[in-house]
Amino acid sequence: MSAGRQLHLNAFLMEAGHHEAAWRLPHSNPRADFDLRHWIELAQLAESAKFDSLFLADGPALIGTGEFRPPGQLEPLTLLTALSQVTSRIGLIATVSSTYNEPYNLARRLASVDHVSGGRAGWNIVTSAGADEAANFGLDDRPGHAERYARADEFLTVAKALWDSWESEAVIADRTTGRYADPARLHRLGHQGRYFKVAGPLNVQRPPQGYPLLVQAGSSADGKDFAARHAEAIFTAHTTYERAAAFYADIKARTRAAGRDPDGVIVLPGIVPYIGSTEEEARALARQFDELRVPEYGLRQLAAVFETEPSVFELDEPLPDFILARPKLEGSQSRSDLIIDLAVREKLTVRQIISRLGGGRGHFEFVGTPEQVADTIISWFEGGAADGFNIMAPALPSGLAAFVEHVLPILRGKGLFREDYEGTTLREHYGLAVPANQFHG
Ligand SMILES: Cc1cc2nc3c(=O)[nH]c(=O)nc-3n(C[C@H](O)[C@H](O)[C@H](O)COP(=O)(O)O)c2cc1C
Repeated sequence: MSAGRQLHLNAFLMEAGHHEAAWRLPHSNPRADFDLRHWIELAQLAESAKFDSLFLADGPALIGTGEFRPPGQLEPLTLLTALSQVTSRIGLIATVSSTYNEPYNLARRLASVDHVSGGRAGWNIVTSAGADEAANFGLDDRPGHAERYARADEFLTVAKALWDSWESEAVIADRTTGRYADPARLHRLGHQGRYFKVAGPLNVQRPPQGYPLLVQAGSSADGKDFAARHAEAIFTAHTTYERAAAFYADIKARTRAAGRDPDGVIVLPGIVPYIGSTEEEARALARQFDELRVPEYGLRQLAAVFETEPSVFELDEPLPDFILARPKLEGSQSRSDLIIDLAVREKLTVRQIISRLGGGRGHFEFVGTPEQVADTIISWFEGGAADGFNIMAPALPSGLAAFVEHVLPILRGKGLFREDYEGTTLREHYGLAVPANQFHG
């Protein structure tokens, strides 16, 4: 039985790796994104290392133009269902948009993944910040930032009620009397709200976990308030320990203010580790990735965050004044803030900024030996900046394999990470209870 506070580790998986040029590495599989064997290998590697969970990001649109980086992927709930049959313990988390889905269909898809995986499903609730996603759903532009979070709030209220609407004890299956289920335990919602009108009950029995684990990934004020009301785990991006610690304290305080137990919200910043047996070897590895970047891709990504055109940037100049003036954006607010803070704090040119964003889009990048990576993880964990981490390997599977082989033994040696799974469900791995059923007196 584990004694002290333990790290929670989530393997954030992304095609050939998180670095935008990972697919160009000699040993990478440039077609990894649609190769099920690639994903099976990653899932089984993360499970063999006893990670709490693996995570698949998503957005209902092509990422960029596809010219310089693999732009698409398998639909994540479909892929998770496949991975659930080649794993038995690791949690399975995927992003699904609350803006471009309807509660009834999404609630039954997530409940089904939780059933077929034996209680290992997790939902990363995102409101989809991109303009290109809106165009795939009949909209000329995406709904406003606050509007997207307001819709997400009602969405969660309806989804939770739908998961509760078919009580676990509803099924009787009495062959003698012919009564299959107790109708009193199947509840109509009759929900009528600003965004949704849903009758219910759901046509899928209550998931084994009650609800899939609810994850959230927006760090703006709207995002933090939403997380304080609904999130059980939070994915977040920070470039320094100080920013991560400030976010951690803020989100725990907001959770308490929302009447919830702050320990019931697990905060996971991302880390992109470049691991070498020596510091020089690690730096050489990071340089190899950086030299494979195509600046035009980085400029396009930067322009997308700031909702502008790549032509506004001069590579060897700082960010333009109109951006440094922090215009109110309807897209990704916390990420744009993070980039401006980084650029101003370190006096970076655009060329330097896109290099820094190439590995993890603003997540914390660390270059060093296994001991140095472990020390950094421990300092954030014990320093009140994290309950665990999103491990974002720059290249996959090699970067994840290096982390598992060289860093995990150090964390285990200090008693900070599990030797083996103690539970079978995602909630048990995160130390979170099955939520009570609102219809159960
Ligand atoms: C670890 C992590 C994973 C994310 N995954 C996704 C994703 O899969 N799809 C997506 O549209 N946004 C994703 N996001 C972005 C957030 O959903 C959100 O748009 C962004 O953090 C800005 O939110 P804000 O405007 O509330 O600050 C992710 C963010 C983080 C930190």
